[in-house]
Amino acid sequence: MSKAADDLHQSTARPLGTERREFPTTAKAVKELYRQKLVSPEEAVKAVKSGDRVALPLGCGEPAGLLRALFARREELSGVIIDQMLPFRQAEYLKSPEYARHIRHNSWFTSAHNRQGVNEGWADYTPGYFHEYPKYFQKYVDVAVFMGTVSPMDERGYFSFGTSVDYTSTAAAEAKIVILEVNETMPYTHGNSLIHVSEVDYIVENNEPIPELPNPPLTETDIKIGQLIAERIEDGSTIQLGIGAMPNAVAQLLLDKKDLGIHSEMITDGMVDLVESGAVTGRKKTINRGKIIGTFAGGSRRLYDFLHDNPMVEMHPVSYVNDPYVIGQNYKMISINSSIEVDLFGQCASETIGTYQFSGTGGQTDFARGCVRSPGGKGFIALHSTAKNGTISKIVPTLKPGAIVTTTKNDVDHVVTEYGVAELRGKTARERALALINIAHPDFRDELRYHARKMNLI
Ligand code: COA
Repeated sequence: MSKAADDLHQSTARPLGTERREFPTTAKAVKELYRQKLVSPEEAVKAVKSGDRVALPLGCGEPAGLLRALFARREELSGVIIDQMLPFRQAEYLKSPEYARHIRHNSWFTSAHNRQGVNEGWADYTPGYFHEYPKYFQKYVDVAVFMGTVSPMDERGYFSFGTSVDYTSTAAAEAKIVILEVNETMPYTHGNSLIHVSEVDYIVENNEPIPELPNPPLTETDIKIGQLIAERIEDGSTIQLGIGAMPNAVAQLLLDKKDLGIHSEMITDGMVDLVESGAVTGRKKTINRGKIIGTFAGGSRRLYDFLHDNPMVEMHPVSYVNDPYVIGQNYKMISINSSIEVDLFGQCASETIGTYQFSGTGGQTDFARGCVRSPGGKGFIALHSTAKNGTISKIVPTLKPGAIVTTTKNDVDHVVTEYGVAELRGKTARERALALINIAHPDFRDELRYHARKMNLI
């Protein structure tokens, strides 16, 4: 393996230091070690010092009890930075800019809970490809403390990062101090998702339910788009479903397929439906045969129960799951993601509305690149033709000033709206513009043609 590839595929093992840690394995000894490390959240967060960088897992992995205890100590602290992607809850320190001089947030992907701070300038944002984030924690971010939620310990002394493995296992391996919040509602997932009690400095317990994500009902437009994509997915394909309403809709329209596989950064409720309907077996997968491969999960309690101790599902670091070279080894790899706007060249602004940071790159580019490497693979960017009750076209002549391109014109494959599918690869710029105008809402097509002519595109 090349040095660069080796960096990306680092194991989750704690780096070897001079200190030799006790590594018990008997049930009795690991329980004893657990007992020795068990403290109150207030005691555990005393490990955080001013100026420290504190890494938290994304979504359900956020340790709510530890975060509250850290917030209660804020007046004693200054310049603490919390690095985290996609929070599913609004922690107290994210509610007002007045806390930022004590504890400042550094977002790796914004959600409704940290968007305000990032866009008002009192929280930060770190751009990057999701598959590279573990490397960021190895090379660029000096993590002093890792705090994350895990499942209860098994009898050999292992906790599972459960729903949030992605960059978490690497951030924990790199941190000088590791604090775990053990929560019975966090599923114990299989894969490369474990941390041993010997690797941990402090343990706290908190069984408040991990967050659940709503499953909004599908609209008629969602269903139309889902059908257009489903028609293009062959039996035996391996699928990735991204974040947002559209990918969820597609899952509902694949229930009659046969022998689908899943290799997806995010594991969702829709995938549980696909397993239960018999559509997903993983039998035709060309790597990780029979296994559902994911790096994080977010959804309802039903999803978390499905994940718990389920050998069909393996959660791995995102440096593996989202590596375009790994993704491309799945034959007939199908990637389905969404976008805010797409210009007539095919550039997809999927994370910003103009200069407003709405979400993040996440794994969209990773999968857009991976699926076109795959023999028989296809990439879909699925979006409604309009936003804001039909007043704004999401197919635009040029992106809004300041908009960030998430998937470039060279990476994009198919763009889908409720009016059809634009296949962009191999087409000239003129053909692309025409194909995209054809799937725009009819009310905006004349205007798009006018601008396309002015730009000498058609
Ligand atoms: N102009 C102005 N506003 C727009 C817009 C446009 N062209 N397109 C969407 N919006 C607004 C919507 O009105 C909505 O506003 P609201 O929150 O006030 O209702 C908001 O932006 C979100 O749009 P919506 O289409 O409902 O978003 P979604 O939840 O379906 O998510 C993405 C779509 C593109 C934001 C989401 O898929 C994403 O973040 N993608 C990038 C990362 C990614 O794909 N990762 C890969 C897998 S995890």
